[in-house]
Amino acid sequence: MENERGSWGSNIGFLLAAIGSAVGLGNIWGFPYKMGKSGGFTFLIVYLLLAAFVGFTIMMGELALGRKTGTGPIGAYHAVSKRFKWIGWLAVFSPFIIMSFYSVLGGYCIEYMSLNLSNLAFQNPAISGGDLFHSMLTNPLGSVVYTILFLIICYLINRGGISGGIEKFNNVGMPALFVMLVIIIIKSLSLPGSIEGLKFMFVPGYAVSGGFIEAAPNISTVLATAGGQMFFSLSLAMGAMITYGSYLDKKENLVKNSAIIVIADTTIAIMAGIAVIPAAVAYGIQQGIPVGEIALGGPSLLFVTLQNVFNSMGGVGALFGVIFYMLVLIAAITSAISLIEVISTFFLDHAAQKGRKASRPKVVLLVCLAILAEASLVAVDGLGSNGVWVPGQAAFGISGWNDCWLDFMDMLSEGIAMPLGAMLMSIMIGWEIRPKSMLDEIHSGAGSGMDSFFSVCMKLIAPLGMVLILSGQISDFFGKGARIAGYIIGIVIYVIGVAVAVTSPMRKAAHK
Ligand code: PFF
Repeated sequence: MENERGSWGSNIGFLLAAIGSAVGLGNIWGFPYKMGKSGGFTFLIVYLLLAAFVGFTIMMGELALGRKTGTGPIGAYHAVSKRFKWIGWLAVFSPFIIMSFYSVLGGYCIEYMSLNLSNLAFQNPAISGGDLFHSMLTNPLGSVVYTILFLIICYLINRGGISGGIEKFNNVGMPALFVMLVIIIIKSLSLPGSIEGLKFMFVPGYAVSGGFIEAAPNISTVLATAGGQMFFSLSLAMGAMITYGSYLDKKENLVKNSAIIVIADTTIAIMAGIAVIPAAVAYGIQQGIPVGEIALGGPSLLFVTLQNVFNSMGGVGALFGVIFYMLVLIAAITSAISLIEVISTFFLDHAAQKGRKASRPKVVLLVCLAILAEASLVAVDGLGSNGVWVPGQAAFGISGWNDCWLDFMDMLSEGIAMPLGAMLMSIMIGWEIRPKSMLDEIHSGAGSGMDSFFSVCMKLIAPLGMVLILSGQISDFFGKGARIAGYIIGIVIYVIGVAVAVTSPMRKAAHK
């Protein structure tokens, strides 16, 4: 039923939007590369186990928290917790920070899509991916303009509201994305040499024996990589699923919905891998490039290697280029609108609580303008190409997390706020308000006997998994030596968190 806040028109509409939020740049350039590098099939098993035990439970927890309280993360934590009220702020801070680079990357996709479109229309001579990328990065004004275009698209969707904007866009965008993905997969697998790419992704140890990387990562690195990727990919710990859950009807089954979102996101990540990695590897082999030197992940995979792949296909290449960059653009939009919605919902709920009615279009406009201000920094910086000052460089030298504004923002959000927020949320549910209160919500949609599984995951497995992920992120950003410090920091936070939770008056209330 549509109320003042709005709500999903149907469960399938909700599912497509939640899957849309999950499927994003992380699936296309993160998952396949990390999977290949970190042991192929072995990584997949680790990822699936983590997704089943940690991701699925946190997904259920977030959807239940949103639906139970009927508000976004800040209101939700305020409503249920005494001691962890402030975590909601983390869950609004992260989406805001993520949008600083997500919208710039979305802008790059628009630029590449239009370039390929004009190549198609005017038969322009192909420019190499490397040259294109370089000229794009070193053109700050152009990057800002494309970022604005991306944000305008998001604004137009978000201002339409939950069912009138977000759901409508996903209803068309997600099936379209799927069809385009299948087209690219068929083309990619038809290229000679593509089998090497498949082996890189799926055969255990092939990344090393096939010459892609020098040494396999150790198991704790694999665990941390898989965990960090899983959280980002499933849009967890950023308030997105709490927000989307807050618009969901009480009768919908949260267990089934969470399982569908996790399975769909993982399936599309594997499909995205089969679409991009074999094509990139086939191209490298055809050009005589050693496989270890082909960029198979991150922005250079999308904007250098794959553009070269399309160039090498001759006349039809531009057509595949248009299809591919449109696919990535849709994936980026459906994720970005969920991030924008977290922030907008906060302001809308806040006004409603104060008895005022805020205008959604105005709120969304202000949110997009604030994002544009921070995104302009990332755009002008051009991945560090334009020598813009980045915080921390003077004191620490350039060391991974402060190479460029994108890495700095990524460190703040994906590196710290996300694993910390997820750990504190599971401690709050597991130890303060107790799993039962969430299970009651989960069961109102007739979920099935998952009670002890949910409790053990929330109390122990999820937060300890987060300790691993946090230390992995810390060592990724600050160097290997920081890993042990990461473990210690993580365990200390867990112990203090549990102590704070068990002494909370809410716990006693939940006990009665
Ligand atoms: N899940 C998105 C991706 O894989 O690219 C990124 C993301 C979207 C993270 C929304 C968090 C979020 F709330």
